[in-house]
Amino acid sequence: MGEKPYVIDQMISAKSIAARIEELAREITTEFAETEKLVVVGLLRGSFVFIADLVRELPLPVEVDFVETSSYGNAMESSREVRILKDLRGDIEGRDVLVVEDIVDTGHTLAHVLTLLQSRKPRKLRTIALLDKPSRREAAIKADWTGFEIPDEFVVGYGIDYAQRNRNLPYIGKVRFTET
Ligand code: IMP
Ligand code: MG
Repeated sequence: MGEKPYVIDQMISAKSIAARIEELAREITTEFAETEKLVVVGLLRGSFVFIADLVRELPLPVEVDFVETSSYGNAMESSREVRILKDLRGDIEGRDVLVVEDIVDTGHTLAHVLTLLQSRKPRKLRTIALLDKPSRREAAIKADWTGFEIPDEFVVGYGIDYAQRNRNLPYIGKVRFTET
């Protein structure tokens, strides 16, 4: 595939992720205790594993919907320009909505999606990100809940890819390029 050779070093174990999701799910359950039916919106594709585990820890009525965004540019640099490739199927006006993101990096993706969803007048709009790289932030945004803050490393696994690989790793690992 023409990528430089690399190895993956485990950064966050599957066990730690599961434990953190239980904690987050308790807080989210409290936040949406009065909600008739929560709309959980996953940002494709990186959040698909996280959203699957998260919704199964929520003892709430939920529906699940997805948005797919694309940034131009290559795999390692997310660009500032965000396009909507796939929009929600459902109407969110007056609804309580939880947006689920894999990583908040520069923050442009989440900022763009939130602006779009806010324009549709949900009753309540909250966000959760599994990972946050605060040192990379360009857009002034922070998820309401974050799984783990991580340093400026390129990570894969648990749904997150590098050039469409490694999404199926059960843990979060960091990509380390090996010199040749
Ligand atoms: P942002 O718009 O810069 O916040 O980028 C968000 C998106 O970039 C995430 O949803 C990921 O899809 C991707 N991304 C950011 N950091 C990484 C990483 O370390 N590994 C893989 N994808 C990443
Ligand atoms: Mg993403």
